[in-house]
Amino acid sequence: MHPKILRDKYFQFYKKHQHAQIPSASLIPINDASVLFNTAGMQPLVPYLLGNKHPSGNQLVNVQRCLRMVDFENVGDNTHNTFFQMLGNWSLGAYFKKDAISQGFEFLTGVLKFPFDMLAFTVYQGDDQVPTDEQSAKFWKSHGVSKDRIAFLGKDNFWSAGETGPCGPSTEIFYWTGDGPAPVKFDENDETWVEIWNIVFMMYNKDENGILTELQQKNVDTGMGFERTVAILNNKKSAYETQLFQPIIEEIEKLSQKKYLENKKEMRIMADHIRAATFILGDDNAIPPSNVDRGYILRRLIRRTIRYGKLLGINTNFTVQLAKIVIKEYSDYYSELEKNKEYVLDELQKEENKF
Ligand code: SER
Repeated sequence: MHPKILRDKYFQFYKKHQHAQIPSASLIPINDASVLFNTAGMQPLVPYLLGNKHPSGNQLVNVQRCLRMVDFENVGDNTHNTFFQMLGNWSLGAYFKKDAISQGFEFLTGVLKFPFDMLAFTVYQGDDQVPTDEQSAKFWKSHGVSKDRIAFLGKDNFWSAGETGPCGPSTEIFYWTGDGPAPVKFDENDETWVEIWNIVFMMYNKDENGILTELQQKNVDTGMGFERTVAILNNKKSAYETQLFQPIIEEIEKLSQKKYLENKKEMRIMADHIRAATFILGDDNAIPPSNVDRGYILRRLIRRTIRYGKLLGINTNFTVQLAKIVIKEYSDYYSELEKNKEYVLDELQKEENKF
């Protein structure tokens, strides 16, 4: 399935359930010094999660471009990226656990036709401030999920964007990516179970001392990993082996005269990093490479791409050539890439010459 089709199906489904589609916010937040890059779909929605009225209503859906450096060292394996896209839907005080869970279940099993047997679910075990999330477990069971496929876990099932602000217990959905049938019992330590969707019940506000206060407005914030889901839909172990990355990787194969299958890690890192760098430079709030903050992250991404290129024996400048592929593949939805193309290619050329 082409990635575009997943995006369309997601929007269609949630629009059918009365969600208004909102655009992906900029990758580089303006008026928000708390983060260098947008790390989640909920980030631009914080004021609305806290009770302000959103102009598009109280049920929203979008795909958000995100960048997280926490997984920088893991890039190259099957499931981690720096830049990624997150499908999200929100209830700003409209529906809560029951509907979020039944919509999620219907989308996965009804629309995407994921086999029920391949899914597992985690819920929050609770702590001294938050009760055990028996309700979410009950709602999953009401869809026929067995207790072996529902795990009560700790901190992974409590989500907050930062040290303070809106947060809450979450229920996560996992997919068995191994060959053959999934084991009867879910095991959180087995990485063959890949997390694809996080549904957060944003019902608290956390203060500087870590004290939670219940919000008057109980929200739902969901984030589905676009790349991981595309991989599953295409029966691939990794998004690097789908249309999301293959055109970039094929260009790297041409440039290096080497095969992806023998150089997976290097080529995956290059494809990930050039995609991230192209999105940063192609953003309407773009910054150039530098030695501080956002610019430094951008510089690391570009230079690491070049380093791995050299390791593969590429002796010419090549980042511009790869960025052109990213722009071509992604501009249909992220039109600013095409609009800012000249700036992207210019900055890459300068950085590569400098390096
Ligand atoms: N905010 C949650 C996450 O990033 C769910 O969208 O996983």
